[in-house]
Amino acid sequence: MNVFITGANRGIGLGLVKHYLAQGCNVWATHRSDLGLLSEVHNKQLHLLQWEITEEKSESQLNALMLPDTIDLLINNAGVYGSTIGAGQALDSVTGEAMMEVFNVDCVGALRVTQALVSRVIAARGVIANMSSKMGSSDDNTSGGCYAYRAAKAALVIVSRSMAVDLAPEGVRVITLHPGWVSTDMTNHSGLIDVATSVAGLTAVISNVDRYDPGAFIAYDGKVVPY
Ligand SMILES: NC(=O)c1ccc[n+]([C@@H]2O[C@H](COP(=O)([O-])OP(=O)(O)OC[C@H]3O[C@@H](n4cnc5c(N)ncnc54)[C@H](OP(=O)(O)O)[C@@H]3O)[C@@H](O)[C@H]2O)c1
Repeated sequence: MNVFITGANRGIGLGLVKHYLAQGCNVWATHRSDLGLLSEVHNKQLHLLQWEITEEKSESQLNALMLPDTIDLLINNAGVYGSTIGAGQALDSVTGEAMMEVFNVDCVGALRVTQALVSRVIAARGVIANMSSKMGSSDDNTSGGCYAYRAAKAALVIVSRSMAVDLAPEGVRVITLHPGWVSTDMTNHSGLIDVATSVAGLTAVISNVDRYDPGAFIAYDGKVVPY
């Protein structure tokens, strides 16, 4: 099985890489600048790729990456929270620029990567998993704030749903994921669960993708996230 994971040099992405390598999969793992902890993973089935998801890839750049002809599982995991400095993403402080920066990574980034790789996922009649967040759920939003992150992750849910509808005739299943509140750099390691727990749940959900409606938004514990 060929698995492609973005944002794989740390956090949940790295945990997913280790999980699928342990399952015997061929894994294409992306980093945008430094290899981070990927440099400590030694496995012949691991392929490392530099990929900045805010940039478009031309056909010649894609060809130079020596990608597999088929991708069974694409996980759009890379993401940013955005500003946490000062008042961070509050109503009176968030800027249009900050909104666009996070949107460009968390929503458009996943779309760009999917556009670049979709023919390979179709060739495998594979699965696309888009990593959103419960913070992108209107239903769950009782505390307000976090404008940039909430909006970008909400937009990703909708983009993911459109992908699910558009790719269903091609035999591609698309799911949207919430990994839980996980101890990673993004949460300053203050999460409620560790990466291993999140990854065990997320990968079980992905394995059971056919049990869910196309484009369903599912948390790591298998529960549907209303949005
Ligand atoms: N942790 C949580 O509790 C939580 C909860 C809900 C959803 N999520 C989502 O789960 C995913 C992974 O989160 P995490 O906690 O593992 O975060 P993390 O530890 O901060 O890791 C984020 C990853 O995304 C990569 N990335 C960021 N911007 C990128 C860009 N422009 N191009 C390519 N790669 C980029 C980072 O690369 P660099 O090392 O180069 O920055 C890093 O590999 C994210 O989408 C996040 O929003 C996390």
